[in-house]
Amino acid sequence: MSLASAVEAAPILRGPLDFPESPLSRSLRQPLMLGLFLSLQDIRVSNAPSTSSWTYDYNAAIVQKADALGFDLAFSRTQWLPKGGYDGEASLDSFVALGAMAATTKNILLISTLHVLYGPWHPLHIAKIGSTFDHISKGRWGINIVTGHRAIEHEMFGWNQIDHDRRYEMAGELFDVLHRLWSDTENYSYEGRLSPWKIKDGYITPKPLYGRPVLVTATGSEAGIGFAARHSDLLFITSPGGAHIDSALETLPDHIANIKTQARLLGREVKTVINPIIVSRPTEAEAQAYARSIVDNKPPPSQTGFGQHGYASDAVAWKGRNDARHKQGLGLGGNIEIIGTPEQVVEQLAGLKKAGIDGVQLGFYDFAPDFDYFAESTLPLLKEAGLRL
Ligand SMILES: Cc1cc2nc3c(=O)[nH]c(=O)nc-3n(C[C@H](O)[C@H](O)[C@H](O)COP(=O)(O)O)c2cc1C
Repeated sequence: MSLASAVEAAPILRGPLDFPESPLSRSLRQPLMLGLFLSLQDIRVSNAPSTSSWTYDYNAAIVQKADALGFDLAFSRTQWLPKGGYDGEASLDSFVALGAMAATTKNILLISTLHVLYGPWHPLHIAKIGSTFDHISKGRWGINIVTGHRAIEHEMFGWNQIDHDRRYEMAGELFDVLHRLWSDTENYSYEGRLSPWKIKDGYITPKPLYGRPVLVTATGSEAGIGFAARHSDLLFITSPGGAHIDSALETLPDHIANIKTQARLLGREVKTVINPIIVSRPTEAEAQAYARSIVDNKPPPSQTGFGQHGYASDAVAWKGRNDARHKQGLGLGGNIEIIGTPEQVVEQLAGLKKAGIDGVQLGFYDFAPDFDYFAESTLPLLKEAGLRL
């Protein structure tokens, strides 16, 4: 068979949202999808006491608990930083670690971050590994597609950073091909136009259970939103108005409307998910004191600290956080900060839902105990408020 290069004409193929019985469709029947933003990476936000750990066992235990509590989604990031990382000890690869959690969970969606252009990965590898995780998890596994916003990471892989919008064009070609590999019932051949790989008579079995794995894009740029409108089910978004809940609530509706419109122009639905950090205690004074203790115990700014500007980035998504507090490294960690009593937390989550958000992936400073507190004190209130079934 001769090598074809007709990817532009590739139709948009069916995904998990086209199957009412898929785990993703089931999760999206919740009024507000509930997820966790795990940290499989040692990030020293503060020296205030914390049990949080990058290790597999720490995070797997949290995900098992979340699964039992009916949470919809667990996600973690992956980064490729030189020695010292973000002044931390170590980080695990979330492609592998979240995939492994499929074996010890039942219902929760597991979203692994993958830098799809690095290597470059051969599409056959991503298609085959993706199908394998899809079958192990019974349709609960997905990819958070990222293209690499830090020049230093591209250099680690042996080239200069690829231009921002060009990266999404390359990812577009790659995912058109992946859709073919996940769906074609005959051998498939293709020669990369934008990337240096070829496929001759490629074939992937088993086919994913619901068309393809769940696909997510974490972006705020027009090029990224254009890519996600065609290829993704979920968009991990950021607040254009920065971390404060009020400015986030003001700026999110227009941002979300733009995303949904772009997808609808292609005849598709995409859902939006944002990542707040929850700092909660029984009284408002205690919650504020907890938030202050995190900020007051920040390590001195360093070139390579988390949230500092030591590693150059061309990401558009986080530009909303260019306020003075974040520039001084005084943020609490999440994209939005939700601080307060359990009732106040529910009120702010309801505000996000009203602004058009379909789901949240929650982070906690002292992850395991703060998550336990949320589960005991706030989850029942979310049900009472009609945000959870
Ligand atoms: C919720 C969320 C999670 C992200 N996780 C990662 C990650 O794990 N690794 C990474 O390199 N970038 C990650 N990013 C950053 C995106 O890759 C970065 O913003 C990228 O440049 C895409 O943004 P843009 O299209 O807005 O420029 C994440 C972004 C968001 C919003």
